[in-house]
Amino acid sequence: MSFTLWFTGISASGKTTLSQKVYSHLQSRGLKVELLDGDLIRAVFNQDLGFSPEERNIQVRRLGIISHLLNKHDIISIVGAISPYSATRAKNRQIIDRYVEVFCSCPLEVATSRDPKGLYAKALAGEISNFTGISAPYEPPESPEIIAQTHLETIDESTANILTYLENCGYIPLKEYCHSVKSSEKELRSESTVS
Ligand code: ADX
Repeated sequence: MSFTLWFTGISASGKTTLSQKVYSHLQSRGLKVELLDGDLIRAVFNQDLGFSPEERNIQVRRLGIISHLLNKHDIISIVGAISPYSATRAKNRQIIDRYVEVFCSCPLEVATSRDPKGLYAKALAGEISNFTGISAPYEPPESPEIIAQTHLETIDESTANILTYLENCGYIPLKEYCHSVKSSEKELRSESTVS
């Protein structure tokens, strides 16, 4: 059965890195999974939207609805988006039956020092308005299913924690089982080739 794995956190908190890692792991286990990255979705579909609270809410609700639709067709949805407002995340939780929230938690100072896109520097210089953590709020989740402390854990540790949670709660089968499915498929294929 499908589910939505929703990464929330400030810019440079590790959402894209971790969501891509988990996506690759789930794909390699033979699961049907789609990855929706806030930056990418904005670039492709949401050029009409800026970063006012209303526009962010539209973006986050759109991602929620797409996830709901993917899940309806048994496709796992992984989303990485700042999704700064608790109320909007709560609305998505209501429409997505199996919603797993990952809070990418890292202090603003760490994110600012990472600044991979140079956006914090611009925001601090006043060149970008409504920038999350600088001139716009981020409301941290109160009870996320998973917390990834990306300033304390390695990427591999955070990824492993997320996969373990998903396995333990029955969202994904154990890796061994996925492998055995794959190898039994291989066996079947080689048998059919022989006969
Ligand atoms: S959300 O708040 O609506 O969920 P989303 O994840 O889609 O945000 O997009 C955030 C990305 O947009 C950031 O990673 C960053 O690259 C870029 N960006 C551009 N302007 C801003 C801004 N004012 N605040 C936050 N991110 C911004």
